[in-house]
Amino acid sequence: MVISNVCCIGAGYVGGPTCSVIALKCPNIKVTVVDKSADRIAQWNSDKLPIYEPGLDEVVKKCRNVNLFFSTDIEQAIKESDLIFISVNTPTKTFGNGKGRAADLKYVESAARMIAEIAQSNKIVVEKSTVPVKAAESIMQILKANQKHNVRYDILSNPEFLAEGTAINDLLYADRILIGGEDTTDGHKAVEKLGWIYQHWIPKENIITTNTWSSELSKLAANAFLAQRISSINSLSAVCESTGADVSEVAKAIGLDSRIGSKFLQASVGFGGSCFQKDILNLVYICEGLNLPEVAAYWQQVIDMNEYQKTRFSQNIIECLFNTVSDKRISILGFAFKKNTGDTRETPAITVCKTLLEEGAQLDIYDPKVEPEQIIDDLTHPFVTESPECVKKSVQIHNDPYSAVQGTHAIVVCTEWDEFVDLDFNRIYQSMMKPSYIFDGRKILDHVKLENIGFHVQTIGKRLQKNGGSFWDKIPQ
Ligand code: UDX
Ligand code: ADP
Repeated sequence: MVISNVCCIGAGYVGGPTCSVIALKCPNIKVTVVDKSADRIAQWNSDKLPIYEPGLDEVVKKCRNVNLFFSTDIEQAIKESDLIFISVNTPTKTFGNGKGRAADLKYVESAARMIAEIAQSNKIVVEKSTVPVKAAESIMQILKANQKHNVRYDILSNPEFLAEGTAINDLLYADRILIGGEDTTDGHKAVEKLGWIYQHWIPKENIITTNTWSSELSKLAANAFLAQRISSINSLSAVCESTGADVSEVAKAIGLDSRIGSKFLQASVGFGGSCFQKDILNLVYICEGLNLPEVAAYWQQVIDMNEYQKTRFSQNIIECLFNTVSDKRISILGFAFKKNTGDTRETPAITVCKTLLEEGAQLDIYDPKVEPEQIIDDLTHPFVTESPECVKKSVQIHNDPYSAVQGTHAIVVCTEWDEFVDLDFNRIYQSMMKPSYIFDGRKILDHVKLENIGFHVQTIGKRLQKNGGSFWDKIPQ
């Protein structure tokens, strides 16, 4: 066997699902996922996993304590592994040089130092976390400068392209696996060994190899391109609202051009998640450092447009509610950054809620998967002057959508959870203050039906008129 023991440092949204699928597909490989957080590891070893991801429970149940292990014994796992994935978090720096833009590599660095300290045999070290271009070089420097034993390291870049909410499917049927390595005989051997793991379930032709820097840059570029499509369609949504065009019709019309394609053209309240903003900011920072200000400004605009969209949507709510939401109760349906995840990192719901709270609104929030403490935490920071107790006075968190809308003036849909589509809106209308408003930030509801019930409906990229609706609303999609 080429590789028999794999270790993954970091049991988060990337490391956990990725290693679970590797364990599922490679029954002869022992996979150990380690984390410095004892709480997180305890959750991975319990019935309630620390992250919600459709299909993940089944995979973990099948493999856990067979060939998949979750542990805090980082030393042991590093010692016995042939290959180590680094899947730690790389958040945007919140202080010092590159504040608000550069990726903070302190966790990657500390993982590399730990490996150097502990390793007693040759290791292939694989960066899975998104890192700036040339991070592999820094990891190699740290490993070489700190090594305790005379061991050989090969560093590979193997970015993860899974999206939350569809992670298991994305891992099982990946469009491509990208492996970047050094253009040397040893580098090629290391690439082949990692490729061998993926060949257990991914066709060989879908495993592509590049030099390390291309691989690192490809991850940033893929996320930048995806986010750019959303900002592009969101920019047009503003034009649609002003002209009477319908952004869904525009998206459909342009998406049918096979050169453009139909995916990632869903106009929304804005994109969120741990990757898009972080990776583009990182790209912008790198471009500035390379003295490429025009390129930096080009990508920065994708972020600026996203901020504009979130603010525009929030302001529209206030304007529609007679320019004041002070002491009005507003129900927020969905807090996660997208459906099928409990993750709230960079969720547009934070911007919407904070704007409404600043204007004096009382919020009633419901999300099927986000923990109440997480919502309070997200709305508390970085409100420096507001304590969690202050936020709690204005925010009520519900575990049922019908109680969240009871007696409120307006409903704001921030996440496209499927269950929101099937709610009994007649019942909801009866229980709300009048006039009753719905602001559909995800374009998932049947707007004509809602208007017929009596709601005032506002959505993204489309001017609605009572009993109106567009051509596409009337024919089955
Ligand atoms: C993204 C990339 O898709 C994935 O390949 C990478 O590995 C990590 O970053 P993720 O952030 O988990 O994945 O989810 P994604 O499905 O890309 O959605 C990101 C955000 O864009 C969400 O807030 C989503 O609601 C929004 N979005 C997506 C839109 O607003 N419109 C769309 O058409 C698609
Ligand atoms: P991602 O979305 O990139 O997977 P997460 O924040 O979900 O990011 O997970 C990263 C995990 O890495 C966290 O559980 C964190 O505790 C862990 N981690 C960070 N640094 C180290 C380290 N040096 N050793 C072990 N685990 C680490």
